Amino acid sequence: MLNTIIAIIVSYLLGSISFSILFARWLRKIDIREHGSGNAGATNTLRVLGKGPAIAVFLLDIAKGSAGVLIGQWLGDGNAWIPVACGLAAIAGHNWPIYFRFKGGKGIATTVGALVIWAFLPTLIAGIAAILIIVVTRYVSLGSLIFAVLLPILFYIFDLNTSLIWGAVVVAVLAIVRHRKNIVKLMNGTENKLGGGKKGEP
Ligand code: G3P
Repeated sequence: MLNTIIAIIVSYLLGSISFSILFARWLRKIDIREHGSGNAGATNTLRVLGKGPAIAVFLLDIAKGSAGVLIGQWLGDGNAWIPVACGLAAIAGHNWPIYFRFKGGKGIATTVGALVIWAFLPTLIAGIAAILIIVVTRYVSLGSLIFAVLLPILFYIFDLNTSLIWGAVVVAVLAIVRHRKNIVKLMNGTENKLGGGKKGEP
């Protein structure tokens, strides 16, 4: 029991390391949450800081999701729910980071990192679908939402463990909640397109 609690707390603390906030502070001495879309994530890092930092943020945000799940597997004593809880804790840390007044990102890169460890193939398929949507529409938020919603469906089709299917349901709900402003903008045609604005502008 103590191991489980430690694994979940460590995963949350890891997830709370918001690389977009840190890179924006280090490189430009700004709070990324006051620029671009205001989101502390890789897409907004691309808008505000450019390609290199965005790729670094994306990879590091993925890594902390994977690390959380691996810690859960390591300390979880074979209990399938613990890596699921740790993945969700890392995503929650990214979305509501304890070090940054609980104002973080939307959790998609961290979700990628967690779910490739939960179940690689269905996550890869959802990821490919998301990339295609982003390439065709240039809406990262739409690709992110389709990725998140496809996950529980694919996990169910792949007949995965119940813990993973429920974990993916929670992931999809979290992604929808965090993208609620993007959904409104997508519906009224005002959502940012990838490469659509000047650096630093929404
Ligand atoms: O993963 C975040 C992405 O889906 C949307 O980011 O900055 O355009 O709101 P942003």
